[in-house]
Amino acid sequence: MSRRGLLTRGLMLGGVAGLAGASSAAYGAVEAATGLTVTDYAPVPPNWPARQKLTISVIADIHAGGPNMGIARVREVVDTAQALQSDLIVVLGDYFATHRFITEHVPHAAWAAELARLKARYGVYAILGNHDWWHDPDGVRVALRQVKIPELRNDAVLLGERGSRFWLAGIDDQLAHYLGRGNFRGADDLPGTMAKIKTDDPVVLLVHEPDIFTEVPARVALTLAGHTHGGQIRLPYVPPVWTPSAYGARYAYGHIVENNRHMIVSGGLGTSKVPLRIGVTPEIVRVTLGA
Ligand SMILES: [Fe+2]
Repeated sequence: MSRRGLLTRGLMLGGVAGLAGASSAAYGAVEAATGLTVTDYAPVPPNWPARQKLTISVIADIHAGGPNMGIARVREVVDTAQALQSDLIVVLGDYFATHRFITEHVPHAAWAAELARLKARYGVYAILGNHDWWHDPDGVRVALRQVKIPELRNDAVLLGERGSRFWLAGIDDQLAHYLGRGNFRGADDLPGTMAKIKTDDPVVLLVHEPDIFTEVPARVALTLAGHTHGGQIRLPYVPPVWTPSAYGARYAYGHIVENNRHMIVSGGLGTSKVPLRIGVTPEIVRVTLGA
């Protein structure tokens, strides 16, 4: 092939690759901004009483902020979650967007006011995530407090009715303090949290990052996590390109059972790094425990 032929071919290939990249980005932007699904799980953990029915809606990683999670979109998420009429609603941290491509700033008071519309029989509970800790933990805590959503900060509460009580526990963030060189010190205290559980009633544990799962005692019936965004950009038939977990794809997404212990990792709703999602539709998780 002549030099000119090679050059033309190179330009064409470059053009095709560029177009494919641009169309993937456009697709990812649309999926992040408009996709919304409810993912159902009905795990049967060994230490959850078979006849004790409990439904939980899980909202994770809202990352409020446009282009994909402006206030109208937060409202849509809240409406969708509220329509599920679950017994309990939990919000697993990372409340606001911190990437470089924000087109609509959503103040803490605005996303919190939307979350304030959530109502459930056993209440609405929250924990904080790494982005909250890294960028504005006090602001997030004030916002949650103002709308009366309790934070389970290494804490546990006994919920439910006589004969069907359960503990809802939550730990603080495992990546709270950045120490440099890729090292972190967590604000989590799992043993201290477990020590607050004073009866034999079953336990649901809220964590932001799923990595703590290796340490979760069998006493906990179900662990609920977010953080990974399911990899956020995920191509068919291959492991996620990027998973913020020391365990790679092992805890990236979905229902994980190890040594008879159960965890569900939500793919979450918003985005970090770039406002794109490919192959991981924004989701609200609904869990049904018991008959
Ligand atoms: Fe996170």
